[in-house]
Amino acid sequence: MSAPGRVIVPLDVPTLADAVALARRLAGHVAAVKIGKQLFTAEGPVAVRAVHDLGLRVFLDLKYHDIPNTVAGAVAAAKSLGVWLLSIHASGGGEMMRAAAKAAAGPDRPLVIAVTVLTSLSEDAHRAMTGTPRTIEEQVLHLAREAKAAGLDGVVASPREIRAIRRGCGPGFLIVTPGVRPADAALNDQHRVMTPAEAVRAGADLLVIGRPITAACDPVAAAERIAAECQLPGDQ
Ligand code: C5P
Repeated sequence: MSAPGRVIVPLDVPTLADAVALARRLAGHVAAVKIGKQLFTAEGPVAVRAVHDLGLRVFLDLKYHDIPNTVAGAVAAAKSLGVWLLSIHASGGGEMMRAAAKAAAGPDRPLVIAVTVLTSLSEDAHRAMTGTPRTIEEQVLHLAREAKAAGLDGVVASPREIRAIRRGCGPGFLIVTPGVRPADAALNDQHRVMTPAEAVRAGADLLVIGRPITAACDPVAAAERIAAECQLPGDQ
């Protein structure tokens, strides 16, 4: 399956038919598509298989967070679907993350990345929930280091944390970033945004970009424009 570029497009649609129609247009123009809780809950593994049939890679973004044994089972099931990338929650703890890494291991293994702190949380909400004096950025970096120590491949991070994670976790640790908006695009409900070029220069490896592509009159042209914007010298 070919995989150009750094852009992952979420299939945030309610039905399999909608997902396949969007994925068919994007095949060959994006790095992968993301299947999240909405589509997977509605349609299940058939959505993953349908996207694979179009030659696209899948980021299965179900953000597993449970006891280690249950998460290991879920990761093994995702692996058997042949997904390329999948997400778990770092706040499930080191043992849970190690169990996920172990379940993913082996030939043709999926990459496993951890969500650190949800970007929907404010500093106040984060402090109230965790009781820690750490700022969100400090907590994100702490959890990213834990994820790396547990053997995971990377993290999901908001644009404002990319630099700290890249500095703290080094090259080769995957940083996947939502909240990216081309300079001329609507912000929608995203607040702390960066442009694709800024996010890549800050150290992001992969960008999750939805509505600026999916709501465009020509999603392929929008995806190509964004892909061009985030090329770095040395990219093919
Ligand atoms: O349309 P938009 O580009 O905002 O879509 C971004 C995608 O990334 C959505 O699938 C959304 O659920 C996801 N996401 C996000 N912010 C996070 C984590 C995930 O927007 N912090």
